[in-house]
Amino acid sequence: MTRPKNDNFLRALLKEPTDRTPLWLMRQAGRYLPEYCETRKRAGDFLSLCKAPDLACEVTLQPLARYDLDAAILFSDILTVPDAMGLGLYFEAGEGPRFERPLREEWAINNLTAPDPHEHLGYVMDAVRTIRKALDNSVPLIGFSGSPYTLACYMVEGGGSKDFRHIKAMLYSRPDLLHRILSVTADAVTAYLNAQIECGAQAVMIFDTWGGSLSNAAYQEFSLAYMQKIVAGLHQTWEGQKIPSIVFTKGGGLWLEKIAAIGCDGVGLDWTVDIGDARRRVGDQVALQGNLDPNVLFATPEKIAAEATKVLDAYGPGNTGHVFNLGHGISQFTPPEHVVALVETVHGYRR
Ligand code: CP3
Repeated sequence: MTRPKNDNFLRALLKEPTDRTPLWLMRQAGRYLPEYCETRKRAGDFLSLCKAPDLACEVTLQPLARYDLDAAILFSDILTVPDAMGLGLYFEAGEGPRFERPLREEWAINNLTAPDPHEHLGYVMDAVRTIRKALDNSVPLIGFSGSPYTLACYMVEGGGSKDFRHIKAMLYSRPDLLHRILSVTADAVTAYLNAQIECGAQAVMIFDTWGGSLSNAAYQEFSLAYMQKIVAGLHQTWEGQKIPSIVFTKGGGLWLEKIAAIGCDGVGLDWTVDIGDARRRVGDQVALQGNLDPNVLFATPEKIAAEATKVLDAYGPGNTGHVFNLGHGISQFTPPEHVVALVETVHGYRR
């Protein structure tokens, strides 16, 4: 298997020289694009869109048709894994994700098992194969999963939460139960990411959106340890190509050295850290991905260019090791034409 024609994203993660700083945007296929909203309407709703491989492929490619992006990311959601574990995922209009059966009782936690991704998440595998074929080796395809702790937040809370009181009560009063959830979920995520790699994903990313809500000690015990286990279990290479992995803990700036030490190739940064400081701390060990504040995209094109340049300048010289991205997902209210200014600035920049 050969590398894609534009493999700058993979090169940057593997610390090989690049022609330019590669970029992609978290949630690049989403509601800020009118064509996405149109396809979602045809699918009926968000989950039906995730479960229809041809439509998931269509929306994956939409941002690439508009912008000169250096990677595609599988269109899906992190919550498909707990759905496959039997929790009953649904989306309440305007309310975000919900589970019919939140995971709180000891008997239910003891009965939890890791789903076979080929059997229970076959629609995701079909989407990965369809997207890889449609990309025709133009740019790499990123597969992804939630981290065990972030998935457990939704599983135990039963949906999004502001205070995480159910999962934190469990963490402090019945840590054995939370460890059991995390252990099964880590096995599920390892199998799921490996299946995505087998079906064509050329890099994988773990989204640890809520790890940053933990105390220093709890982060290491309940989030990082399980991500380390996953990274150790991933296919290192597939069809002769190295498969880089990226770990992104939102709010994880205090723990960069610890994250960089778990064996991943890249560390995602949110916008609260200076990427130059991050490079001085861990840049000899890992590549860095990030980290423009997504809200910069509400400013004028001139300001967007200036802020993106600040991130590039802060990273500093050397034509590798940096994948430009936002510090979190792009907002649904972003004017699509503002993204052009960002892409042109990043690609026009010479270190
Ligand atoms: O980056 C990409 O383009 C790939 C697609 C992707 C989605 N979700 C599509 C999506 C990815 C990588 C995710 C990850 C995800 N999902 C995370 C981790 C990253 C993060 O943002 O912190 C989390 C926490 C979720 C769970 C989730 N999914 C929530 C909380 C919501 C509701 C958010 C909202 O604004 O309504 C979703 C829905 C979702 N996932 C949408 C998209 C495009 C919007 C759904 C829609 O079209 O109505």
